[in-house]
Amino acid sequence: MEDIKQFHKNLLSWYKKCGRDHLPWRNTDDIYHIYISEIMLQQTQVNRVMNEFYPNFLEKFPTLEVLANSPIEVVLASWSGLGYYSRARNIHKTANECPKQLPDDMSELLKLPGIGRYTASAICSFGYEQNVSVVDTNISRVLKRYCGFVEVKDEVVWSSADTLLNHKEPRSHNLALMDLGSMVCTPTNPKCDECPLSDTCKGKNEPELYTKKKKTVYEAMDLFFAICIKDNHIALTKSTGKMYKGMLVLPSTDPIDENLLTTYKHSYTKYRLTVHLYKVEKIEGDEIIWINIEDIDTLHISTLTKKGLEKIV
Ligand code: ADE
Repeated sequence: MEDIKQFHKNLLSWYKKCGRDHLPWRNTDDIYHIYISEIMLQQTQVNRVMNEFYPNFLEKFPTLEVLANSPIEVVLASWSGLGYYSRARNIHKTANECPKQLPDDMSELLKLPGIGRYTASAICSFGYEQNVSVVDTNISRVLKRYCGFVEVKDEVVWSSADTLLNHKEPRSHNLALMDLGSMVCTPTNPKCDECPLSDTCKGKNEPELYTKKKKTVYEAMDLFFAICIKDNHIALTKSTGKMYKGMLVLPSTDPIDENLLTTYKHSYTKYRLTVHLYKVEKIEGDEIIWINIEDIDTLHISTLTKKGLEKIV
């Protein structure tokens, strides 16, 4: 019992000194803003979300109601650069299901599209300040090391989060664990000598034991696209493939060496792409959509395409 009190005290005093309490979504009580931050932070780095995507998105869609009433194409265009567009479709669906306010109840939140256990608990803890535990990948690593769990199911980690939760200050406690995982108890080379929990941590002598090394398998691929421009309009088409499904992309072509305009690299999820753009004089097919070059920034066009167009138009 004394141990857990000390654990709470050490963790919170570390958080007061070193925690990232400047992050904008930690300084608002707008549940919708907190929700948007959590969705963006699922696959995108904190600094990029904070400086770019979060303020820009909320400027365009300041409330759930504005988001719900905006056409999905506009929402998708504003998600440009964040990737994983199913997230944008899900927030739009969620806004339409509850345009006034997100529910303040875990089981109701879990029914909404794109909201899993982590996001639901983050909304309840960081937004509604409820007495609930939160487990994301950072917190999970801290807890596994601290408790000495090597190969355990997620359920066991969640239950350890419940056991260790500070019921007096649950929100700060959860944020502190998250920051500890991201800044001190890192996947490789954790800084155990700076850790406020090291006295009672079971993993401190072998921290690497608790981090499974999941190697991302990248797939290299060459893509060949046609550039056909007429009267300030460019030929694009709607992607039906796995990559960029539903977005406007350049039409594919066969490589013809003498018409090569440019070659560039692009990363998209697990793909490491080399993109080759070829100038063509004529393009045919019902599926071609002619887009005014001036409108490119406002449409749901893949970043891969925009990057290529910046090089040539
Ligand atoms: N603060 C609240 N939620 C966060 C998250 N998912 N990542 C980083 N900081 C956060």
